[in-house]
Amino acid sequence: MASPGRPSRFFALFLLVSLTAIRRSLAAPAGNKSCDTIDHGYRCSPETTHFWGQYSLWFSVPSEISVEPPSGCDVSFASVLSRHGGRDPTANKAIAYGALIGYIQNSTTTFTDEFAFLKDYQYTLGADQLTDAGRQEMVNSGAHFYRRYAKFLENKTPFVRSSGQDRVIESAEKWLAGFAQEGKRDEVGKIDVSIPETKGQNNTLSHEICAKFEKGPLDKIGDSAQMTWIDKFIPSIQQRVNAKLGVKLTPTETIYLMDMCPFDTLSSPTAAVSKFCHIFTEDEWHQYDYYETLGKYYGYGNGNPLGPTQGVGYVNELLARLTEKPVDDHTNTNSTLDSDPSTFPLDRKAYADFSHDNDMSAIFAALGLYNSTKPLSNSTIEGTDETHGFSAAWTVPFAARMYVEKLQCKGEKEEFVRVIMNDRVAPLEFCGGDEHGRCTLSKFVESQSFARSGGHWDQCFA
Ligand SMILES: *[C@@H]1O[C@H](CO)[C@@H](O)[C@H](O)[C@H]1NC(C)=O
Ligand SMILES: *[C@@H]1O[C@H](CO)[C@@H](O)[C@H](O)[C@H]1NC(C)=O
Ligand SMILES: *[C@@H]1O[C@H](CO)[C@@H](O)[C@H](O)[C@H]1NC(C)=O
Ligand SMILES: *[C@@H]1O[C@H](CO)[C@@H](O)[C@H](O)[C@H]1NC(C)=O
Ligand SMILES: *[C@@H]1O[C@H](CO)[C@@H](O)[C@H](O)[C@H]1NC(C)=O
Ligand SMILES: *[C@@H]1O[C@H](CO)[C@@H](O)[C@H](O)[C@H]1NC(C)=O
Repeated sequence: MASPGRPSRFFALFLLVSLTAIRRSLAAPAGNKSCDTIDHGYRCSPETTHFWGQYSLWFSVPSEISVEPPSGCDVSFASVLSRHGGRDPTANKAIAYGALIGYIQNSTTTFTDEFAFLKDYQYTLGADQLTDAGRQEMVNSGAHFYRRYAKFLENKTPFVRSSGQDRVIESAEKWLAGFAQEGKRDEVGKIDVSIPETKGQNNTLSHEICAKFEKGPLDKIGDSAQMTWIDKFIPSIQQRVNAKLGVKLTPTETIYLMDMCPFDTLSSPTAAVSKFCHIFTEDEWHQYDYYETLGKYYGYGNGNPLGPTQGVGYVNELLARLTEKPVDDHTNTNSTLDSDPSTFPLDRKAYADFSHDNDMSAIFAALGLYNSTKPLSNSTIEGTDETHGFSAAWTVPFAARMYVEKLQCKGEKEEFVRVIMNDRVAPLEFCGGDEHGRCTLSKFVESQSFARSGGHWDQCFA
């Protein structure tokens, strides 16, 4: 394994036990090609499929802390912040991938070994919208949420907001369908508020208005960290592919060929992983995962001077819901929406929001969830190990989900807060998180001084 992580012995044992369990469940139904499941997400070939950065299909991330609520505690609040499900490549990439396949097919005379399938491969991927596998991820996600909080949700319908792009809205709808299905509800819930993704709109689910962040050069930090890392890991892959096919792929085109693995897998929901995936080794997928991780960390997370600030508005909304007090924010919230109980109620106790990977990366950074992750190196894999819990596949895969829950525990006056990242309990060390990952509500609110004071929003317009 390329990752230099040093998990504790407890954790290594835990991992072994859970991997064994996964293998066993994989082996069970012969001929059943359903790789995606409600409880554990995507579980085929985890040694590679869980290393596709933000293009990974959602999977349940191993947790050092038990994800079950501690005994004697009842859930008193449950919210989810979700990424949209798996999609086709974005429009520009779709064109680039199609051209790449065309170039390879025109230039190569003999396709051998793991490249043999390319001879007759037909590029048919769409652009920007969810694929059927991505839709199923969202149905499963709604069911996953309902299952986890079934007792608490018995008489409740979550208040739902979505960012305005088609694939995000459709994701929210599929999630609601899965929720209704699992809860045996007669009616499927609806989206309460959809916030447009247009220039000049204040939208806590899609960054648009921090001038300095949008116009650069801050947006180049992620790209440049990725380019430095490309120089380290791509040459050997590039040489092998070029030698095998007799072509001249550039480093970027070599990355595109790797991207085809998740996207081709997503376009065929029932089959196991795409043949593109077999062109590369397990180590190479770890390097690819790190490449994508660097983009999120330096583009939108702790590694970007104005990254965490983009998530401040959402965190202030979350604090308002947790404390049932009006939103206090002067960043990217829309005060018209947030001061109206019909568009921002404070007493619902169950909430669902739908967004994108970049925006969620910023929100996680604003919360400080990865403050104790060692800054990522651009020249060697670092910081993505199990102890730190940070990698794009662990934080923002397709259909990613952060649950924030409140617990009312026997013998305790104050409620507790827990944060669960893709089924992995965040330790919340910054507010005195206990062995269950719990902080008292007041300590949690206190710890969020970065968001409460507006982050570095003043620098957006400096
Ligand atoms: C296939 O596996 C999924 C996930 O475990 C399960 O829900 C489904 O019932 C299985 N289908 C068959 C036909 O065994
Ligand atoms: C491949 O060859 C075909 C037929 O000659 C041509 O139409 C097409 O543009 C070529 N594609 C690329 C990407 O070179
Ligand atoms: C705020 O929301 C209202 C109601 O949806 C909308 O009319 C207005 O354009 C929004 N303003 C900004 C700056 O986003
Ligand atoms: C790579 O990291 C080094 C050490 O932190 C830093 O000095 C350099 O600016 C980084 N280069 C790029 C292109 O990000
Ligand atoms: C939108 O955000 C800007 C920048 O923080 C702020 O000045 C403005 O009042 C906000 N508009 C609304 C409707 O909340
Ligand atoms: C995370 O680190 C930032 C930068 O040092 C700090 O401002 C913020 O308060 C920290 N967040 C938490 C929750 O400790």
